[in-house]
Amino acid sequence: MTTSSSERGVSLGMPELPAPAYPDDVRARLETDAREIVARYPDSRSALLPMLHLVQSEEGHVTRTGMRFCADMLGLTTAEVTAVATFYTMYRRRPSGDYQVGVCTNTLCAVMGGDAIFEELQEHLGVGNGETTADGKVTLEHIECNAACDYAPVVMVNWEFFDNQTPESAKRMVDDLRAGRPVAPTRGAPLCTFKETARILAGFPDEREGAVEATGSAGPASLIGLKLAKGEAAPARVVHPRGEAPQDAPPHEPSPTEHLSSHDAPQDTSASDPAHPSGPVAEEGE
Ligand code: FES
Repeated sequence: MTTSSSERGVSLGMPELPAPAYPDDVRARLETDAREIVARYPDSRSALLPMLHLVQSEEGHVTRTGMRFCADMLGLTTAEVTAVATFYTMYRRRPSGDYQVGVCTNTLCAVMGGDAIFEELQEHLGVGNGETTADGKVTLEHIECNAACDYAPVVMVNWEFFDNQTPESAKRMVDDLRAGRPVAPTRGAPLCTFKETARILAGFPDEREGAVEATGSAGPASLIGLKLAKGEAAPARVVHPRGEAPQDAPPHEPSPTEHLSSHDAPQDTSASDPAHPSGPVAEEGE
């Protein structure tokens, strides 16, 4: 004897209608771009990741319409496209702001102050993780390690780095973004909107003046291991507790090539923001 799904208390839900297509003019424009992307690869399906960035640049997130377009252009099923689009966190699944502010709360950034930054930004902006401010400017989210741990705690805006942040510097930065004031990342090209960033990630040239030249370079904190290996730097020393700078260590003077941002906190982060000391807090009696 068989039982129906309703008898088993299982809801199968309504089948989803096919995604609507783009308007003709949008589709024609995107098809031109898509053909350029596909031509870079020997196998069209290899173009899926940049194609998803392309449709994200159109709508600010990857919609069902965008996934249908990718499937049509690449000879894939929408299920295959959906599987990829939902796997990678760089593809947004719902409408979001012009500036995606990602606070690294992975282990190192967290203990260096990333958790405090994230909490204060939530309160300051009045949004939770993955939410967007009412003016549509800023989407806040916590993110995992961005391989910039030597400048922890790190905040990223549309994937550009803001190093050595504090709650105060991060709040100033989001205030400036919302007010339309200039905000320059520590390294890399000047900021652009999330849609513009998505188009660059799709592989189209960044034609803004000076953008390519401003890609920055590795700073001293990133290169110290290499210098040690080459015997060009003194061996590492035991680091003094925060707040007690070693007498023989001169303050770090950034070189002109370090591309420090006007929104970076001073390098000695915890000292610059004593309300949020980032070192381990001693238990009473220790
Ligand atoms: S832990 Fe934050 S960049 Fe690595």
